Amino acid sequence: METASHIQDLREKLERWNYEYYVQSAPTVSDFEFDQAMAELKRLEDAYPQYADPNSPTQRVGSDLSNDFRQIPHRWPMLSLGNTYSAEEVGDFYHRVERALNGEAFDIVAELKYDGTSISLTYEQGRLVRAVTRGDGEKGDDITANARTIRNIPMVLHGDFPADFEMRGEVLMPWKVFDELNAQREREEEPLFANPRNAASGSIKLQNSSQVAKRRLECYLYYMLGDELPADTHYACLQEARTYGFPISDAVRLCHSLQEVMDFIQYWDTARKQLPVATDGIVLKVNSLDQQRRLGFTAKSPRWAIAYKFQAERALTRLNSVSYQVGRTGAVTPVANLDPVLLSGTIVKRATLHNADIIEGLDLYIGDQVYVEKGGEIIPKITGVDLDARLLVGDKVRFIRTCPECGTPLVRAEGEAAWYCPNDTACPPQIKGRMIHFVSRKAMNIDGLGEETIDLLYSRGLASNVADLYDLTLPQLASLDRLGDKSGRRILRSLEKSREVPFERVLFALGIRYVGASVAKILARTLGSIEALASADRAGLTAIDEIGESIADSVTEYFAQAKHLELIARLKAYGLQFACEISDEPRTGPLSGKTIVISGVFARHSREEYKQMIERLGGRNAGSISAKTSFVLAGENMGPAKAEKALALGVPLMSEDEFLKNISS
Ligand code: IVH
Repeated sequence: METASHIQDLREKLERWNYEYYVQSAPTVSDFEFDQAMAELKRLEDAYPQYADPNSPTQRVGSDLSNDFRQIPHRWPMLSLGNTYSAEEVGDFYHRVERALNGEAFDIVAELKYDGTSISLTYEQGRLVRAVTRGDGEKGDDITANARTIRNIPMVLHGDFPADFEMRGEVLMPWKVFDELNAQREREEEPLFANPRNAASGSIKLQNSSQVAKRRLECYLYYMLGDELPADTHYACLQEARTYGFPISDAVRLCHSLQEVMDFIQYWDTARKQLPVATDGIVLKVNSLDQQRRLGFTAKSPRWAIAYKFQAERALTRLNSVSYQVGRTGAVTPVANLDPVLLSGTIVKRATLHNADIIEGLDLYIGDQVYVEKGGEIIPKITGVDLDARLLVGDKVRFIRTCPECGTPLVRAEGEAAWYCPNDTACPPQIKGRMIHFVSRKAMNIDGLGEETIDLLYSRGLASNVADLYDLTLPQLASLDRLGDKSGRRILRSLEKSREVPFERVLFALGIRYVGASVAKILARTLGSIEALASADRAGLTAIDEIGESIADSVTEYFAQAKHLELIARLKAYGLQFACEISDEPRTGPLSGKTIVISGVFARHSREEYKQMIERLGGRNAGSISAKTSFVLAGENMGPAKAEKALALGVPLMSEDEFLKNISS
């Protein structure tokens, strides 16, 4: 019993600290203290699985179990709002309400319209039991596991909350997180998200909730529904909800006149640009719940609320052509070339078209007048076409089918938005791109070898892969335009010095698709050498923390190619680092010396959690069964091939319950 109450104490404390940090932005403890308490709770929950609770603060990190998004009907349909775009239309709405209420006095609650993806949260007895997307308005996807990873969504409420109710709101990706995510995706040549809204809706539907946790989403709640609500006005319900622990925006104003509504709109039209999240308008709602009921709904939206949409900062200009850029991994990005136009203080001549699907969706023709927007994203983008201005129809823009640089037919992997040029051996931008990546600061950090020099080296036939760089001589370098003896020596010195660059950076420098700096670090430190990496199979790789299937496939494909093995052999001969210490403190604990293979599906914890548990208790995770395997932690539906192999090698199988019992004793 003591353990149970200790666990309960820790949970309450952590949830309160979480609330102070993520909802009130006013932490009262240090990160260290928070992490300590979290680690202790995790330890206790691992040791006493009988006290597991899906609403425990430990669950906010998510799991790698694949979500199945069951469809769940909404108790109350999730409707959308009518839109207005002018002060006049806002006035029309106000007077419509006035007339419908026969001149009765009414107030309007003005709120920001958050530009993310909507979510409906159900709480029973103060506990989060369900989170559902809007879906078609009648039914949505059950994304409860993913919603638990959103730090400012309370899992357990405090105060005097109703027994059973729903909160609706918007899931958002803050600008800062969005910019970082896109910058990372750009480095790894993954298709970029067009805006934080798409990023939020894409993230909340990821299959794996531990990935969702990494997306650092936030939520604002703006609508309470239930048979018994704490107050009879919308405004008072929101204020009450705040006391239960919900993140309710401060930008909510109770307006007593149309003028006050207009003041709110005018103020936020500019002030919103300073907000950490995207907003695209204002929502106006009749305050009294009784008046809302009397006003009722049309088929699509309530008569008691309306959205006023801000004008996005956008400009109209002519689309002159579309060009295509090929990156180092062969990914092809379409770019619109425009008549120069002034947009938020800068001249814009080019804008991204993201990928083939976006071009298709816009139905573009050369010569079209297109809308360019710069919503705070790094690169301006085309968001629409002025169809009324389409006079003389030019050519329809169709995404190219062959590489603009080398003519090879492009390929697209199942489920991916990007098209790739597969000709990695002879497509110039891929060859040059790989060398530019190799010498870059975070990779081999070779001084003096910039883009222009690489271009020259390639066009003169002096280097066509990264190993060729190590064959360069001073006379060759010094003979290049703009490069003298001094710069040549500097490059050679820097190449010489790059022999000391640690393995993890060399691995990153190779430019294997999806192997960014942090993945390279994990692979290097876990496997310790290029030989171990080259011989690892898919199962062995995915057994490593944070290594998913696409990375594993990309790595095995890379090492299956003789040309890559030859390249590595040459780099090795030049003295580059292809091995490092396996970072592993001496393992102690009840599982020390044990090598364990996890297989099948588990009921009590996710695979990821079992992997972590094994590591923490001193054991080692392995991806495939061998004579060295101590036992297989076997869940439901373990593959027959694995079961046979275990039997053949005499490796025992241990069930989930047995395992938990063993480790807790
Ligand atoms: S109230 C029945 N309030 O806008 C009214 N919606 O076009 C329910 N939204 O689906 C919605 N901020 O995703 C409401 N402060 C706010 C909002 C808001 C953003 C979104 C929401 C809704 C859409 C309607």
